[in-house]
Amino acid sequence: MNKGFQFKRNWNLFLCFVFVSMGANLFAATMTIHVDQPGPVVSPTLYGIFFEDINRAGDGGLYAEMIQNRSFEDNTFLIAWTPLTNASTVATFELDKAVPLNSNNPTSLKIEVRKTGGERVGIFNQGFKGMVATGKAPESSRKWREQFAETQRQADNGLVIAADKKYRFSACVRAEDFFGKLSFSLETQSGEILAEKTISDFATHWKKFEITLAPKKSDANARMVISMDRPGTVWLDMVSLFPNDTWKNHGFRPDLAQMMDDLKPGLLRFPGGSFSEGHILADAWRWKETIGDIAERPGTWNIWGYRSTSGLGFHEYLQLAEDLGAQPLYVAHVGMAEKDFVPLDQLQPWIQDALDAIEYANAPITSKWGELRASHGHPAPFNLKFVEIGNENGMGYSWGGGTRTDYLPRYKAFYDAVKSRHPDIICIANIHTEPDAPADLVDEHYYESSDWFFRAATKYDNYDRSKPKLYVGEYAVKQDAGNGNMRAALGEAGFLTGLERNSDVVKMSSYAPLFTNPHWQKWKPDAVVFDNTLCYGTPSYYVQKLFANNRPDVELRVELPESTNAIPMLFAAAGLNMNSRDLILKVVNRGGQPARLKINFSGLKEEYLKGVCNVLSAESLTDENSFEHPDKISPRSRDLPMYQPGFSHVFPPYSVTVLRWFQN
Ligand code: AHR
Repeated sequence: MNKGFQFKRNWNLFLCFVFVSMGANLFAATMTIHVDQPGPVVSPTLYGIFFEDINRAGDGGLYAEMIQNRSFEDNTFLIAWTPLTNASTVATFELDKAVPLNSNNPTSLKIEVRKTGGERVGIFNQGFKGMVATGKAPESSRKWREQFAETQRQADNGLVIAADKKYRFSACVRAEDFFGKLSFSLETQSGEILAEKTISDFATHWKKFEITLAPKKSDANARMVISMDRPGTVWLDMVSLFPNDTWKNHGFRPDLAQMMDDLKPGLLRFPGGSFSEGHILADAWRWKETIGDIAERPGTWNIWGYRSTSGLGFHEYLQLAEDLGAQPLYVAHVGMAEKDFVPLDQLQPWIQDALDAIEYANAPITSKWGELRASHGHPAPFNLKFVEIGNENGMGYSWGGGTRTDYLPRYKAFYDAVKSRHPDIICIANIHTEPDAPADLVDEHYYESSDWFFRAATKYDNYDRSKPKLYVGEYAVKQDAGNGNMRAALGEAGFLTGLERNSDVVKMSSYAPLFTNPHWQKWKPDAVVFDNTLCYGTPSYYVQKLFANNRPDVELRVELPESTNAIPMLFAAAGLNMNSRDLILKVVNRGGQPARLKINFSGLKEEYLKGVCNVLSAESLTDENSFEHPDKISPRSRDLPMYQPGFSHVFPPYSVTVLRWFQN
């Protein structure tokens, strides 16, 4: 190429670049952040999490127990255990209540072997393998039982064991006319033994055996086999397998707990949701049944289609909150299940339960409940401050939960009792109880479309500041949200800019639900998707992470360019970290076009030498993450130069951007 031509071409390209940049800046609209006009203080609990045992979030999820139906109480027929026999075996495998381990755990498994057929005979468990069968699980339903067994046969997601890890196995055993060896082994599906121990010193009464298993090979579809080498009768109960390594050694699955911790939550609401209410009162989550020896916890039928062991109990939730550095928020049962309610004149024991829960969490070790807490390994108080009185009660939902008239007298009885004994406890109501009863905070729940959430970004701008403060305790884009797509994430992000701007009234919030195992899914979308091996965050998870990890202490007023759309394309919130003086700007571009904006910090006196840009974006609104592509939509980070007036930035289509500038 001729040199003159080359020069001319480069010159033209340069002019073109200058023109485009100048033009872009000339034509870029301006967003002004008023550093000299600080708004509300942003509540430290604004970004919380809500944990509910739904979609196997607890048993089979965060609670690291690997054996499903460990106490044989999960149903009136044997589920999750499969006999190991051969063609000549003569043996029976039956649920038996003749000699209960204890009164809360009446059922055990009786294995009676008359003829081994020349090989070991036993039973195996593949953990939380399979899927939830469709529909409810009525006790005697053959169809449910067959569906469940079939999903177990088809799946390849058994016990996940690693060669470099150790596992704590325990079982309660008793035996009659059995003089052989009982073997406990971790095995592949084809029967290769990866770790094994045997015992023979059992008795006719219950004895607990605890052993450590160290597999020689890893396997993601393993099974736990319990087998006898000769005829006899053996009973099993509380068969448990736990990884030695759990998060902070408190029994939580490390990767799932880490996903929670990465959100830096200010708050942990537990144990539900509808789960805490129960479909009927008999299934209500009663905290006193969830503490102490796991073998003594009766467990409860979970409204989401499986039995919960209560291994994840009141103490564990308080511990989890402490481990996460989050304020615990306990949802106390107000005597209203979804379908039936405690009569008003019989409410006292339920009120006492709530009062005792507060004592268990907070009282000194010299008290009855404090002493019990200490005996469970936590002498120091947990400092529970937030108690929600019921969940979604009084809303008049078609599926239940009662009307305002049902809720108010019960709520008031709880409120008065809690306040008179513990005036510092912050009581949260399910509905706006005023003027009939006071409330420290009101919990609002929203499962709507993304457009609804964009519109709701201004919902609290004109909220009457004399009314009770708010907790948006459950929310998520649920319409056209797929398994958790970018459309949902954008809607929630737009909404969050409004919560942050109004944090003088919205003190707390939590996305819902947090977890799902897609094999056991009863509700979608969710923030974190997991199976027995892996987990990933949905785009909504990353919105939570971006907002919570960049929570300012004080809001700053933002002026966005005027919008002509019925629903604006851009949403923003800005703030200041009081200690570090970091400037934080969050911008949501819900549109399919990039948006270039000049960013003008008016009244800025200090120098901001560097910054960082974190952007979550997708090519389409329907884009999702998956086990195959877990990070497809996840924040991308890059450095920003020193802030200077006239700084302009392009916000990509379908994006949530956090710009953060530092003074040094
Ligand atoms: O988050 C899922 C469910 O939605 C909760 O259990 C309930 O409170 C709400 O209806």
